[in-house]
Amino acid sequence: MATLSLRNVRKAYGPVEVIKGIDLDIDDREFVVFVGPSGCGKSTLLRMIAGLEQITGGDLNIDGKRVNEVGPADRGLAMVFQSYALYPHMTVSENMGFALRLAKVPKAERDTKVKEAARILQLGPYLDRKPKDLSGGQRQRVAIGRAIVRAPKVFLFDEPLSNLDAALRGQTRIEIARLHEELATTMIYVTHDQVEAMTMADKIVVLQAGRVEQVGSPLELYHNPANIFVAGFIGSPRMNVIDATVVSAGGGGVEVRLPSGAQIVVEVAAGAMQPGMPVRLGIRPEAMRIDPSGPIAGEVRLVERLGGLTLLHLGAEGRDDLIVQVEGTSAVEAHQAVRVSADGAACHLFDADGLALPRLARHQLVA
Ligand SMILES: Nc1ncnc2c1ncn2[C@@H]1O[C@H](COP(=O)(O)OP(=O)(O)O)[C@@H](O)[C@H]1O
Ligand SMILES: [Mg+2]
Repeated sequence: MATLSLRNVRKAYGPVEVIKGIDLDIDDREFVVFVGPSGCGKSTLLRMIAGLEQITGGDLNIDGKRVNEVGPADRGLAMVFQSYALYPHMTVSENMGFALRLAKVPKAERDTKVKEAARILQLGPYLDRKPKDLSGGQRQRVAIGRAIVRAPKVFLFDEPLSNLDAALRGQTRIEIARLHEELATTMIYVTHDQVEAMTMADKIVVLQAGRVEQVGSPLELYHNPANIFVAGFIGSPRMNVIDATVVSAGGGGVEVRLPSGAQIVVEVAAGAMQPGMPVRLGIRPEAMRIDPSGPIAGEVRLVERLGGLTLLHLGAEGRDDLIVQVEGTSAVEAHQAVRVSADGAACHLFDADGLALPRLARHQLVA
């Protein structure tokens, strides 16, 4: 059992503050993903939790106890790194049991723990191999095994899949999700990949430049991003954003005018919106469709046919990179003129500061 709480946690290297006051609660058994662009402070924050970096300010509590000054070995955590750095001269079994040997755990107990970790990770047949005789995915599983044998209260992962090829990343992602279910332990997982965050997390923490942009479940962030940064970061292909101007604002939503003069009613709470205010309209590629009577006229620049779906890249509304995602194989060709529409209930609106206006429609699960 392990809960964590961070209160105004800060990190500075000399005069440069890289973690700028993080408040966060992590529940027991929760799978929490820190996601954000490279350099935003994910690894630094994780290493502060692990005890590998000093905390400049604020409080880190594990199970209600302040641990800022507790050494890494005494926090009950285990970390898995991107570079798994196995000992090349040791077998899989010896690599996994090494920390236990250092801790002077008797051999019989060590063997039991290593065998159990190998069972969980399906490494049983490889226990006597050296790392050089393993695939990249198997090596990463050994690195995870080294953490499992220590039975930590919290697992910390720092981009553990980055060194794997795409197919193996997908597979290992599923294995880690399964591992979380089997071990029922609190896990904190760092990645720059929003697909990993969306598929694995109970709770996503979106970071930018040392600050939390939003915390929520994957679908909360997808359907109700708090601001334009989160809107652009979560979801693939990314949300289309078009500059617009408020025409009218009322109970049914906010009507906006696009650069071409086309108008759309966006179903969001009008708040302080007034006619003439500059806003940005956000439409996910999957919320747009080809529609001969649609309000937006554009020219197809590029067609990507992926089999199950087609991505149409359009020049329209002052942008040359709008994406319309169409189910199945679209017959639309490059250089074709098209019209598209978007359901106002599925659109997002951001004010001049990039903050989202609350949407009126709550998302619902489909069968
Ligand atoms: N030892 C250090 N000294 C000075 N700056 C550092 C140090 N470690 C990291 N940083 C800076 O802190 C910021 C966050 O780094 P990091 O946590 O590694 O980002 P991420 O893991 O999100 O890519 C970066 O701007 C990085 O340059
Ligand atoms: Mg990092």
